[in-house]
Amino acid sequence: MAGATNLAYRMLCRRFGAGLTVTEMVSAKALSFHDGKTWALLEHTPAENPLSAQIFGTDPAEMAEAARAVEGAGFHLVDVNMGCPVPKIAGSGAGCSLMRDPRDAAAVVGAMARAVSIPVTVKMRAGWDDGERNAPAVARAVADAGAAAVTVHGRTRSQLYSGRADLTIIAEVRGAVPVPVFGNGDVDSPAKAVRMFRETGCDGIVIGRGALGSPWIFRDILAALRGESVPPPPAAEEVRDLLLELARGLVAVRGEFTGARLMRKLACDFARGFRDGARFREGAIRVESLEDLERLARGFFTPDRPRTPRAGDGAPLPETAAA
Ligand SMILES: Cc1cc2nc3c(=O)[nH]c(=O)nc-3n(C[C@H](O)[C@H](O)[C@H](O)COP(=O)(O)O)c2cc1C
Repeated sequence: MAGATNLAYRMLCRRFGAGLTVTEMVSAKALSFHDGKTWALLEHTPAENPLSAQIFGTDPAEMAEAARAVEGAGFHLVDVNMGCPVPKIAGSGAGCSLMRDPRDAAAVVGAMARAVSIPVTVKMRAGWDDGERNAPAVARAVADAGAAAVTVHGRTRSQLYSGRADLTIIAEVRGAVPVPVFGNGDVDSPAKAVRMFRETGCDGIVIGRGALGSPWIFRDILAALRGESVPPPPAAEEVRDLLLELARGLVAVRGEFTGARLMRKLACDFARGFRDGARFREGAIRVESLEDLERLARGFFTPDRPRTPRAGDGAPLPETAAA
């Protein structure tokens, strides 16, 4: 997820059981220009295994070159973004626009699959809009072209993040292709994970917003899938320690200036479900340094900080204009 799934965040998610992690989307064109800022977004460690890099773009040759660069940088998989709805990306023919013609989607995946020996995977939406819910056709085309797996977010591009993810279309894709299918959309609790598996027959689940501010969701879901009871949520001080571990990790990778600014939004998510979270968020969006954030977190995540139930089944996840 753009602005979120950096190295430090992914490591936290892995610790809680995430089986496969993915970088935020990066531009194939920028990679080929050796753009330093773009490569910084792909910072990773050998401890992350398996790790996928997600790229976006539209030109098959450029995407193939980017896939080769990603393979050379040590990633175990390369994922094509065919889900991003934002005009900056979709307006240039990339992201969700690639779904509009399955032949375009297949041309990109085919060129990449011929260029690398690591698996090429695709992340897509249900389709462009209600009149164009063509995920099964796109999935077939990209699987024929060499995609090793597909992830389907059960919303169309025009829905952005409104309404609910449609599990039926994920089930249709599952029935349409021989490769593994990952279900995505709105999984923010063990119950919703179980439902995703049951109603779609998917082979795995991709979790986005449900892990923001609560990387322990993977532990909880794995417990439920094993038939064990779900552990209680971490206490306030544990949440503080996770948040600060993330902040230190991010500052180590991106430097204090950028790291602290990236933490502003990420920190806000950790206060979800705690009383007076709004007060914490007001401070978090202003932090300039790691020290600022430490002071704020130590003052807020105290042992006596009451916890209200987190957003669970039925409660919508925060909407966003991002990818
Ligand atoms: C802030 C934000 C950034 C995102 N960035 C990406 C991205 O870079 N690539 C991608 O495939 N999806 C991206 N997404 C979409 C998510 O991966 C996911 O498909 C969507 O949020 C629905 O799943 P969820 O309900 O589990 O969050 C992003 C979503 C959010 C909220």
